[in-house]
Amino acid sequence: MQAVSPRQGACKRILAVVGTRPEAIKMAPVIRALQSAPWADVRVLATAQHRQMLDQVLDAFGIVPDIDLDIMAPNQTLPELTSRLLSKLDEVFARERPDAVLIQGDTTTVMTAAMAAFYRRIDVGHVEAGLRTGDLHNPFPEEMNRIVAGRLSRWHFAPTEGARDNLLREGFDPASVHVTGNTVIDALLDVVQRDTPLPVEVPEGRRMVLVTAHRRENFGAPFREVCLAIRDLADRHDDVHFVYPVHPNPNVSGPAREILGGHDRITLCPPMDYLPFVAAMKRAHLILTDSGGVQEEAPALGKPVLVMRRETERPEAVEAGVVKLVGPVRDAIVAEVSWLLDEPGAYAGMAKGVSPYGDGHASGRIADILGRDLIG
Ligand code: UD1
Ligand code: UDP
Repeated sequence: MQAVSPRQGACKRILAVVGTRPEAIKMAPVIRALQSAPWADVRVLATAQHRQMLDQVLDAFGIVPDIDLDIMAPNQTLPELTSRLLSKLDEVFARERPDAVLIQGDTTTVMTAAMAAFYRRIDVGHVEAGLRTGDLHNPFPEEMNRIVAGRLSRWHFAPTEGARDNLLREGFDPASVHVTGNTVIDALLDVVQRDTPLPVEVPEGRRMVLVTAHRRENFGAPFREVCLAIRDLADRHDDVHFVYPVHPNPNVSGPAREILGGHDRITLCPPMDYLPFVAAMKRAHLILTDSGGVQEEAPALGKPVLVMRRETERPEAVEAGVVKLVGPVRDAIVAEVSWLLDEPGAYAGMAKGVSPYGDGHASGRIADILGRDLIG
């Protein structure tokens, strides 16, 4: 990491905002890098758009928020979440007057924090900038969230060259766009060597398929298709065990328990802490998901990923042949998972250990760029 020399009395106040599980995982190494930067006074604002899942991650990384808005309500709608976040964030920004606000990703927390900072004329740094599908409704509402957040940001920390290209195509000043790698790889490499037991039993000798799902655009019929596909697969492959930490959103947990509960080759469990989840990814034969972060982590662990979405803003791993889009479509999921389970050659072709999303040093680069621009 390049050293930034502090000037006497020139400490800059950085407010790092986190709302949900993936934001906290990906912001944790940035917070750590800023804590060791002599020029930075970093404070952590948890909106708690997620409550339990955010706390799980903050505990895992030893982060104690300085401010906690405790915003989450059961089954929150996007308009009510947006309006509550915007007014609460404005109160905090007015009081704290940070020199810069840092946001990560594309959640409602991210979009509202960028807006609230803009109204208070506070500079924003966007971590994981420039991801795009080009379809405003997929993923919903994340594509809109990241477009708005990007528009309002001074610093764009793009994880890949492709993300940088997306921003340049939209007309951003090249000097404001920095390719850093994705901080999720920093977080993953920090914990991957630790020996953490699996929090669930997987019968000896069975291959394990790890499942996660939560996307809003899949709620309803597509998500039922996903669950029916998993049940078909568990019925068909008696040497395979499915482990599915279920997202607590009632639109997910309801159908998941109704369709998958009680099957002896499917284990449904609550969201796992980050370290056990990394252990589960390591133990998995393959991963079936609609998660963004898992599409980045699993390739680094050499695990094939089938993505139950129609589009992805993370094309690099697809192009490398280690991630495949199967859509939230019952027959396609059953066919593609069965193909990987039954054909060793197909499996080996996807289990290549390619990691297009970073080298584990993204957070240091971000801290250095902020230091250079804020202190000189
Ligand atoms: C949110 C983000 C999504 C991100 C995902 C990561 C938005 C609009 N969506 O989706 O981009 O990929 O987080 O997981 O910002 N709940 C709990 N406990 C928790 C978390 C959630 O009970 O710790 C339940 C609550 O009923 C809550 C609901 O899940 O109202 C939905 O949470 P919300 O943050 O609105 O949406 P997610 O689907 O989690
Ligand atoms: N994850 C976790 N426990 C789980 C499931 C996922 O810690 O039970 C981690 C996973 O390793 C990844 C992140 O959560 O880093 C992804 O979060 P999610 O899928 O909720 O959000 P997305 O990445 O799709 O925005």
